Amino acid sequence: MPGIAVLTSGGDAPGMNAALHAIVKLCAARGVDVMGVEQGYDGLMAGRFRPLRPQDVDGIGHMGGTLLGSARSKGFRTPAGRARAAQALESLDGLLVIGGNGSLTGAHLLAQETGVRVIGLPASIDNDLGCTASAIGVDTALNTIVDACDRIADTARAHRRVFVVEVMGRQCGYLAMASSIAVGADACLYREQGKGEAHIVAELEALLRRAYAPERNKLEVLILKAEGVELPTPQLVRRLQDFSDRELGGVDVRGTVLGHVVRGGNPSYQDRMIAGRLSAAAVGALLGGSTDEMVGWQPWTEGGIDTRDPSVKRFGLAQVLDETRALLDGTSPVTQRRVRQMETYAGVMGI
Ligand code: F6P
Repeated sequence: MPGIAVLTSGGDAPGMNAALHAIVKLCAARGVDVMGVEQGYDGLMAGRFRPLRPQDVDGIGHMGGTLLGSARSKGFRTPAGRARAAQALESLDGLLVIGGNGSLTGAHLLAQETGVRVIGLPASIDNDLGCTASAIGVDTALNTIVDACDRIADTARAHRRVFVVEVMGRQCGYLAMASSIAVGADACLYREQGKGEAHIVAELEALLRRAYAPERNKLEVLILKAEGVELPTPQLVRRLQDFSDRELGGVDVRGTVLGHVVRGGNPSYQDRMIAGRLSAAAVGALLGGSTDEMVGWQPWTEGGIDTRDPSVKRFGLAQVLDETRALLDGTSPVTQRRVRQMETYAGVMGI
């Protein structure tokens, strides 16, 4: 009987288990065995496989994290590591990789160097992948951030405080951008703005001066900051507290770094739905003989190769990685549109 392997790699994302659940069921329906690879590419090189039958994935679809575990594999970054991985896959008909930028880069190199047939599914809370409007994990992460900001705003209002809330996203500011609009933040800081410390501090001092002017007298000020902004949150908090002590009568300024809280939790409807539909297209592509591609969530735009799902398209991994680089270096029209949109809100946010 034919069989394929599946692994989860890189930063885990809520919805990875929903994808594993879907993949196993979809393959079982087609009489295809699934071998789960433990701990991402590290486990693949070491041949740490275990059969995933429908009964092995019962009840995991709603859970955060990943049943198989994940890793950031240094060994897989070498051709020798990828050759070992290919050897471990010799008796199987292909590999599904559920992961983000680094994981899909590895998948592309594996396909190119060894001929192993690989299909990628985008999974990263950062939403920093090209050729997909969203990735598995993004929606849940946004909901987690919104919930955390609502809780912080409750206590900020009680004490008339300023809060800087830092969120994950690595070099991509999308989580901070999107959640700042959702929570009605007073400011949003993201790397794509290209602002240095002096510029950021000057703008926020002016915002605080307006917020605490007698005629406005805001109860709380919420500043969302993407972790990719080079100014460390504690340093920014100190700068704003010094300003507050000098000019605002000492209004408290605090900082909260949400960190890995943003990556946990049970996946939302959106992430479970995307995971299921991407999985169906990925299984179909792999069993249909395709390779070196990613299935992307594209409900609105043209491009890519059609699948049976009108909202899911196939893209060559080379194109995905090129567009991902453009997303992060700011030359992508997607990034430029996001930044333009945020700039239209900038004048309103601090009111
Ligand atoms: O890529 C997902 C992500 O959560 C990033 O937002 C974050 O910067 C990074 O992973 C943290 O990596 P680790 O979990 O290895 O510390």
